[in-house]
Order: sequence, then C-alpha cells, then structure tokens
Amino acid sequence: MNRIELLPDHVKRTIAAGEVVEGPFSVVKELLENALDAHAGEIEVEIAEAGLKKIAVRDNGEGIVRDDIPLSVMEHATSKIRTAGDIETIQTFGFRGEALSSISAISRLTILSRTGDAPLGGRLLCREGSIDMGDYAGPRGTMVIVENLFYNTPARKKFLKGRAAEIKNIKSVFLKIALAHPSVRFTLVSDGKRELALEVSGSVGERIEQIYGKGVTGSLYHERLSDIRASIHGFLSAPDFLKSSRSMQVLFVNDRLVEYRYMGFLLSRGYEAIAPRGRHPAAILFLDVDPGLIDVNIHPAKREIKFFDQRYIDSLIQGLCRKALDRTAHRLTGRAFRQAAGPDAQIPRPPSSYDAEDAHGTGERAAGQESFQVYPSPAGADALLVPPIDPLHVAPGLFVREGNPGVHDAAARDGFRVLGVAFASYIVFESEGALHVMDFHAAHERIIYDRIMSRTEEEVTQELIFPHVLALSIEEYDSVIEHRERLGEIGFDIDPFPDHSVVVRGVPAALGRADMDTFFRDLVEALKNGTEADIEGRAAETVACHAARRAGDALSMDEAERLTSEALSGRHDLRCPHGRPFLYKMGKKDIERMFRRS
Ligand SMILES: Nc1ncnc2c1ncn2[C@@H]1O[C@H](COP(=O)(O)OP(=O)(O)OP(=O)(O)O)[C@@H](O)[C@H]1O
Ligand SMILES: [Mg+2]
Repeated sequence: MNRIELLPDHVKRTIAAGEVVEGPFSVVKELLENALDAHAGEIEVEIAEAGLKKIAVRDNGEGIVRDDIPLSVMEHATSKIRTAGDIETIQTFGFRGEALSSISAISRLTILSRTGDAPLGGRLLCREGSIDMGDYAGPRGTMVIVENLFYNTPARKKFLKGRAAEIKNIKSVFLKIALAHPSVRFTLVSDGKRELALEVSGSVGERIEQIYGKGVTGSLYHERLSDIRASIHGFLSAPDFLKSSRSMQVLFVNDRLVEYRYMGFLLSRGYEAIAPRGRHPAAILFLDVDPGLIDVNIHPAKREIKFFDQRYIDSLIQGLCRKALDRTAHRLTGRAFRQAAGPDAQIPRPPSSYDAEDAHGTGERAAGQESFQVYPSPAGADALLVPPIDPLHVAPGLFVREGNPGVHDAAARDGFRVLGVAFASYIVFESEGALHVMDFHAAHERIIYDRIMSRTEEEVTQELIFPHVLALSIEEYDSVIEHRERLGEIGFDIDPFPDHSVVVRGVPAALGRADMDTFFRDLVEALKNGTEADIEGRAAETVACHAARRAGDALSMDEAERLTSEALSGRHDLRCPHGRPFLYKMGKKDIERMFRRS
C-alpha cells in the first residue's frame, strides 16, 4: 500500500467538478441560473458541438464588479450568502459558490462582465489553473464562455451519450428553466443555427404555449391550492391530454427547477382513475414554500431538495390532482347521464378527444362501464364468462389460437354466419360447431395496420385538399422532422413550416376521414418515444387506431360480414396491433356443458 498524501488542489477541484458538472447540460443550467440570479431580462445561450466545443451564455443582468471577477472562479466564493443560516432563507438559485470554480477546473473559461455604473468592465481568462485579467468595454451584463469542456477528464467525456442526446438534454433544461421565467427572453443557438427563441411573455400559461404548442393550455387545467405554510399551483392534464411519457412533468420549488423522485408516482396515483397504463398526465407545478421548510443543499448540482415534511408536500400535489380531476368527474357524469337517458336518447359516440386516451386500443372509453359479464355465472362455468382479456385467465382451448399466429380454424374461415352485433362492439358469428365473438374495432385495426405495413396499395397517399398546419412544441417538431422520411414511406407528406409548425399535405390513404387534430396529436405522441426501427409500426398503429370502426359505431350486417371475412382470411394475425386477441370462441360442446346437456 502506498503512503497517504494530500491530493494537490487541481486534482481535488477536478474530482469535485465531476459532481457539479454531469454533462454540458449542467453547465447550461448553472450559467442560466447565474444569469437569472443577476436579474437578467434577456439571456442568450450559444453552443457548438453539443456544448463540448463551446457554451456561451450572455445576459443583460447586473454584472460582476470588476475587482470581484477573479473571485468568482475561486472555490466557495459567492455573493449570494454570507452565513450558513442564510441558506434557510435563500431566494437565489446559487449559494454554493462552486459552479464557476468547478467549470473552470475542467474547461477553458472566459468571463466578460460589466456592471451598470462602471465605465469599463473586466475580462477574465482562466486557463489550466492560471488566470489573466483584462478590460472589457461591452454592454452591461455578463458573458461566460466555456470551451473544451472535459478536455482534462477524458473518462467523463467518453461516458457522454452522443451529440444528439446531449443537445436534447441541453434543450430540455433550457426549456424547463425558461418555463418558470416568462418575463425573460431566452434564445438558444446551436452550431450557428438559432434553435429556440422565446420572446418575453405575459404569464407562465403563455410561456407554456410558446414551448409546448399553441392552444395546448386548452387541454390543461390551471389549479391552485393555498395553505398557511405553502401554496401550489400548476397546469395539469385534462383527460384528453394524457401523454405516453413523463417528459411534461416538471416541478419548481420557489421557482427552482428540482427533481422530486416521487412526483411521477404521485401523479400516476392522482390520475389512476382515468389514465390507462402507459399514459401520464402533464403537470407543470409550482410549489411556493417557506424556505425554512426545505433543504436545498443536499445535492452538489442542486438537482434535488429535501422537504422536511414530505407527506405534507405530497398531500398538496395529490390535492391539486384531485382538484383537476373533479372537473373531469363533472364531464364524465354529464356523458354518463346522456348515455343513461333511455333508448330514445342519441347514443353518443365517445367524443374524439377521448380517443387519445385509448392506449390499449380498445376503441372505447370504458371508464366506469360494466365488464363483459352480464349474466350471473352458473356454478362451475366461470371460466367461460371471464372477460376475454388475458388468455392466461381463460380455460385452455377457448381462444381460437394459442401461439399459432395467423392461422384460423378452417371451418370458421370457410363458412361463417354472422348473427349480429352485440353491445355495439362485437360481431357475433357462428361457424361449424362454435360460436364466436369478435371485437370489431381491434379486428379492423389489425386489418388496416397490415394493409399499411405491407405497402402493397398502389395509392398509399391521400392528398389533403386543405393542407393541415400543425402547431407543435419544439420537442415534437424535432421528432416529426427527424422521422419525416420514414413517415413518407407509409404515405405521409409532411414539410417543415415556420415557428416549429409542420404542414401536412398528405396522409396514408387508409386513414380515411379521421379527425385530423386528434389523430396528429396521438401520432406526434407516438413518435416521440419511438426509435428509428419502430417508427413506421408506431405510425401505422396510430393510423389503424383512428381509422378503425369504433365501439359504438353502427355496423351494418354487410360490413360485419366483410370485416369477418377479411379477419378470417388467414392473412392476419388474430390480435390487434397492440397484441390483444380479438376473437373469442366458444365450442358447441362448451356451451352444452355449461347447460349440463352433455
Ligand atoms: N451571470 C452573472 N451575472 C452576475 N454575477 C454573476 C454571474 N455569474 C456569476 N456571478 C457571480 O459569481 C459568483 C460565483 O458564481 P457561481 O455560480 O460559481 O456561484 P453561486 O452562483 O454563488 O453559487 P452556486 O455554486 O450554487 O451556483 C456569484 O455568486 C455571482 O456573484
Ligand atoms: Mg451559480
């Protein structure tokens, strides 16, 4: 074993820097927060090569007093607190006096700054531990330039995720911080291209629209809860605005962007009554709390904070969800009332906005509805009446196929007789020796999906007479543009349009007359989490889901027969694209046994 020695200062600083600076996005976050602490009204971020070559953040804030500039890169040097106790009443983002010092240990750092009352500002060059001061004659404010990040920590550089992922992280932190500061103008330039520009806006709601797309606040409820010790307000999903990822869940505590590890869980619990599996509410939440009730100093990058009374905070978040869902309850009750209004009442097709929630592809909103079982089950025959959801829960042999894709009972294929449509959802047909119940939405989805994916149709694209302009969030815009060509292969014709919008000129012919707004909202959502490999499948699934006849649609006998014939043609797997079986078979023998006839 070697002798113990104290590490030299520069090694200590390099190691410590690793805790504060996880990637280029951390530098962007620290510099943005410094600019906000300096009360800037305008902040410009410029990055080159995903921030590894250069990150420059310019603000028009208060600036640093010239003589203090060299201090700003020293360890534990800060203008924001004076005593440890100050942390308990902290109003600024920074307080550790560590960010610039850490960044300077692993990059080439330049600071240009001038305060409003000084005729001349200062310029600091910080290179490999030595500093050099000069004059700066620029406008009031500060510009921090970070070059060659991680040049002396190759291991950290190696573990970065690749350029696209790092840019995505930078954009994400940039947009989240911008969310809480609508009165500040933010711009982001990447490799010379102006990527994001957020003009000053009047409210958080407006800022949300700038970031997530025009009109998006129409799908969010703004709720507020106040208490003596804390208050919380935020924008939460309406039921037709559930997302397939948690990327739109953000928490600010006293305007500080923080990660709260239970937030996703709390929101899922809050929305469990209406959110199917895999769907998540958006929640942009602002918690204002007495600084004495939180500890902001538990993480070197200030990413997490500690709540002294976590249950209290959890109850506020849950209370806010409840408030949002109370509105939903009124909407659902209204619908239920219409549905229950008797045979003369018009049976409403589920509003298209509800389709967005249809993650399992059932084609209907099942909330609060009775399950499949309508008759009391005779003793011993329970297995027959279990809803046909999970093959594992059904007596073996009751499903038409088990691990035998695409092959159907020959008798049913050749000669079937449709008996009718039950519950406006299932085609019931008889074939030799068996009774079949087929979920027609799921079957139709499968047929459409196969048709799109096989690309045998001559006319795959249906030109839109009126091209459709879609206002997207920046993130959504990026994913649509990224997958534009692949989407083109299955019939979409999409072009970029100003202000992170796209113009859609053509859609797959199979889409028919689906509602374009809801369709595209779902499509964009599906694409966001897709990989290059599964993008066409995801898009085809979404088209199929929107184009397929839905539960509740009136289906004529003729349509029922054609659909049954195609579904049983042997060309299709007997599962919907999401993998749910759509055909349930009861053999004559099984029925006889149920009635104790055999
Ligand atoms: N953009 C800026 N405008 C004005 N002053 C700045 C700016 N950036 C840094 N400073 C000054 O430099 C000091 C050091 O900045 P640094 O980010 O290292 O520490 P901090 O913000 O005080 O704490 P933390 O490490 O928690 O961020 C700050 O306290 C502030 O006085
Ligand atoms: Mg700071």
